[in-house]
Amino acid sequence: MAAVAQSDAGRRPGETLRASSVSRAFEGVQALRGVTLTLARGEVVGLIGPNGAGKSTLVNVLSGFDRPDEGRVELADQDVTRWSPHRRGRKGLARTFQHSHAFRGLSVRENVEVSALGVGAGGREATRRADALLARLGLDRYSDAPASALAHGDERRLGVARALATEPSFVLLDEPAAGLPEAEVPDFAALVRTIADEHGAGVLLIDHNIALIMETCERIQVLDQGQVLAEGSPAEIRANLDVAAAYLGETPVPEE
Ligand SMILES: Nc1ncnc2c1ncn2[C@@H]1O[C@H](COP(=O)(O)OP(=O)(O)OP(=O)(O)O)[C@@H](O)[C@H]1O
Ligand SMILES: [Mg+2]
Repeated sequence: MAAVAQSDAGRRPGETLRASSVSRAFEGVQALRGVTLTLARGEVVGLIGPNGAGKSTLVNVLSGFDRPDEGRVELADQDVTRWSPHRRGRKGLARTFQHSHAFRGLSVRENVEVSALGVGAGGREATRRADALLARLGLDRYSDAPASALAHGDERRLGVARALATEPSFVLLDEPAAGLPEAEVPDFAALVRTIADEHGAGVLLIDHNIALIMETCERIQVLDQGQVLAEGSPAEIRANLDVAAAYLGETPVPEE
């Protein structure tokens, strides 16, 4: 997992990624209403909420795949609200997608190499990062297979490998553990902690697996109908009755 080390001397990452008072509407659906979220380097923040709460929309706004109607996004103390995803990526921000964005015709290894090359790594370094990450994510047995051959859960972890191959300062993981066998969840949780603790990246973790979120995150933010319903430590969130009513009491709905 040396692949996540902050080795790029040309990059001067700031300490936080921040969305301030962000709103976004789609044809009458108010997906986000004045949401503020701050992610510091070295911490894991959980983002939870029912289906349709606005979690992925917030990730899209943070990463530049969508623009807010109101509010701003700051990365390393710069206003990046109008920056492209690629420009934000070069500045140290990476994300995964809830639905696969893999290059289906390329091999699993090539998919990861392309991400590293995209932020300026050389060919040999890209291969080194790819092999290390695929081994860490338990995908090395598929390295030479086409990405199109992966099962859904493996595809999500390929997305994580692709994000980490950029050696990000901030990484946004949109339901990366969905489809992961229960027995493999602890190892995945350990990987998320490693990204923050050993490599100093800020991690935003979205998942419907509340046990994973409670175990992995130092801070949790709860979205409901586009608004921040609660924010706090895992213990505070567990004790919050509003959260229990809106979310924790529900059986998580498999979204695919
Ligand atoms: N491109 C879009 N066009 C129209 N409506 C959208 C679009 N993207 C999101 N929405 C709507 O915005 C709301 C928030 O969606 P979003 O995908 O952010 O929720 P989510 O919290 O990620 O849900 P899930 O847990 O199911 O992934 C939903 O009502 C959704 O239908
Ligand atoms: Mg989503």
